[in-house]
Amino acid sequence: MAILFDSTSRLFTLRTDHSMYQMKADRYGVLLHTWFGIRSSVFDYSYRIAYADRGFSGNPYDAGEDRTYSLDALPQEFPVYGSGDYRSTALKVRYPDGTFSCDLRYLKHEIRKGKYSLPGLPALYETSGNADTLIITLEDTRRMFYVHLYYGVLEDLDIITRAVCVENHSNADIYIENIQSVCVDYLHGDYDLHTFYGRHVKERNYQRTPVVHGIQSAGSTRGTSSHQYNPFLILSDRNASEDTGNCYGFSFVYSGDFIGSAELDQYDQTRFLLGIHPDNFCYCVKPGECFYAPEAVMAYSADGLGSLSRIFHRAYRDHLCRGKWTTTRRPVLLNAWEGVYFDFNGDKLIQMAKDAAALGVELFVMDDGWFGKRDLDVSGLGDWTVNEEKLGCSLKELSDQIHSFGIKFGIWFEPEGINEDSNLYRSHPEWALQIPGKKPTRSRQQLLLDFSREDVRDYIFTHICQVLDSARIEYLKWDLNRSLTDLYSAALPATRQGEIMHRYVLGLYDMLEKLIQRYPDLLIEGCSGGGGRFDAGMLYYTPQIWCSDDTDAIERLSIQYGTSFGYPVSTMGSHVSHCPNEQTRRIAPLNTRATAAMSGTFGYELDVNKMSADEKDIVKTQIEEFKKYYDLIQYGDYYRLTNPDTVEAYHGWEFAAADGSEALLCIVALQIHPNGPGRWMCLKGLREDGIYVVDGREYPGGVLMNSGLLLPDAAEEYQSFRIHITMKSN
Ligand code: DGJ
Repeated sequence: MAILFDSTSRLFTLRTDHSMYQMKADRYGVLLHTWFGIRSSVFDYSYRIAYADRGFSGNPYDAGEDRTYSLDALPQEFPVYGSGDYRSTALKVRYPDGTFSCDLRYLKHEIRKGKYSLPGLPALYETSGNADTLIITLEDTRRMFYVHLYYGVLEDLDIITRAVCVENHSNADIYIENIQSVCVDYLHGDYDLHTFYGRHVKERNYQRTPVVHGIQSAGSTRGTSSHQYNPFLILSDRNASEDTGNCYGFSFVYSGDFIGSAELDQYDQTRFLLGIHPDNFCYCVKPGECFYAPEAVMAYSADGLGSLSRIFHRAYRDHLCRGKWTTTRRPVLLNAWEGVYFDFNGDKLIQMAKDAAALGVELFVMDDGWFGKRDLDVSGLGDWTVNEEKLGCSLKELSDQIHSFGIKFGIWFEPEGINEDSNLYRSHPEWALQIPGKKPTRSRQQLLLDFSREDVRDYIFTHICQVLDSARIEYLKWDLNRSLTDLYSAALPATRQGEIMHRYVLGLYDMLEKLIQRYPDLLIEGCSGGGGRFDAGMLYYTPQIWCSDDTDAIERLSIQYGTSFGYPVSTMGSHVSHCPNEQTRRIAPLNTRATAAMSGTFGYELDVNKMSADEKDIVKTQIEEFKKYYDLIQYGDYYRLTNPDTVEAYHGWEFAAADGSEALLCIVALQIHPNGPGRWMCLKGLREDGIYVVDGREYPGGVLMNSGLLLPDAAEEYQSFRIHITMKSN
């Protein structure tokens, strides 16, 4: 059993194959956090807590004369605001009398077979019986509400999840002003915080900083998880590397505002919290109602950042993404966006699709511009009726033509967006997020629909379905091209306006769920101006997400490197585009553009007609090669070999089969120097004693991993190599 409870010591021990998480309801019923780290035999880790009389750190009333018991210093599982713990806390509730001071004590618990799910929220799933659930109930000492802490233990995945439910059992409203899904207290140690920051067209840059006294955080108040910070953070030992050291990964299964923070306190203890950002959040829980805080996923590795990432890769690929496209090979696509932008008609698209099909492309995607009045990004959003005049045919005719080339057809939507210059806005201005009496903030000259409203969602859903039902459509790109502002919903009273951000995300999930239930075979790709909503919440509905609007292969190396810490390559939308690149004007070899894009879902985003005959031949072989290595790339173990932002010359990464039988080594020469030194790359994930063949030459696996492979000389800057390595024997 992965969850053990000792009733004498009231000790909860959660164990996965390699990690352990422990809590203890102490003599006052306070739920202490006693361990998260390496798995051991069951032992009460609360022995590590040093009780001392600490000045200016108060004592709970029931501790009586005992000045050594202070919540300000104790490691806690769910610390609350106003309890005498002055660090960042996991819960702040406004009581009906306007006060905030809260005190929670252990009441009961329940252990269940299988992994819990959450109403209306995405969550990891486990169907093979290797998961258990623990629900610990804490009660507010003023007897107004319960807090149910949900833990999912996915034993062989080395994953522990947590979600929180607040149940109001009083007869008055309470308001949650802050709720964090995860809280982990570390009693001692020097830690680094790893975060992923960025901006539009440069997402998820890797940053590592020491945790110092005070609070460091990364978060979003934009209504989406954002380009700026990602809801995936890591704490690690200060000297942890790719292959060594204690690492703790935290991922929020949520697509809206979030905050992840690390606080080093006065006693050199580190508290890590992850949950909904409190700035735009105040949620009323009515008598008898429950509020569910989203799930957070936690993993521990004793073997460095690489193995931590692989834990998340496996879990997200196989236990978060759902549906047919998690196991079926996804089609190599060609998206028309960078090829034609808004400048197309049906004939042009048909020609593009025909040219693409001749090269082996399996899916043609018509991007923005096919609906309403939409020849630029300033009008038409919200009017999901096909512009047959622009296309020169119906959608069915277009789709049928494209299918006649033996390929699939896909289409772009931005369901949440609305232009003021649209029929929808003219008839329903109150459906857009804007505050009465205040001019809204525009972004990309558009507003957003109030997705917290069911009637608004129903209207858009109906129109999307009409389009999807009118033709054969196998793929949908769900885009969003701005952040949220002007939070006001005409459907909510003044006291509940603080709920909009969260209700918006719930509305988004509700609509996506309806979509996948109605069209189970539809491949949906998430997108928000590239990677502005690249998070575990979206992956529950869309198994791939467009990684960035930056299609420059060299920039993509950093973007995909950062993304790889928390997400598998099977989720990273990545395309080969024209050169000079649209975003950077850089020229990178076609082969290198494919090397970058193959380490993702792989596709093209260009006009094939503009390619030379030689380039077309190269594309044909690239597609064949990707199909050949598909399983290795998508399901193999991913290894970061270098950091593209700091490596001196050759950047490398690798896919290795789980059994070590083969590997694909990818190399990009970021710098070349005439008369330069030899370059080696040490491989990973091979069998020490296996004999491997590389370009006809044999090497023991141990040699390739410890001494390295001598790399070919690059003849030009940005040249890349994809080197397939197979095991001959062992
Ligand atoms: C932003 C997306 O990231 C692009 O790929 C493209 O779909 C445009 N929107 C279309 O407006």
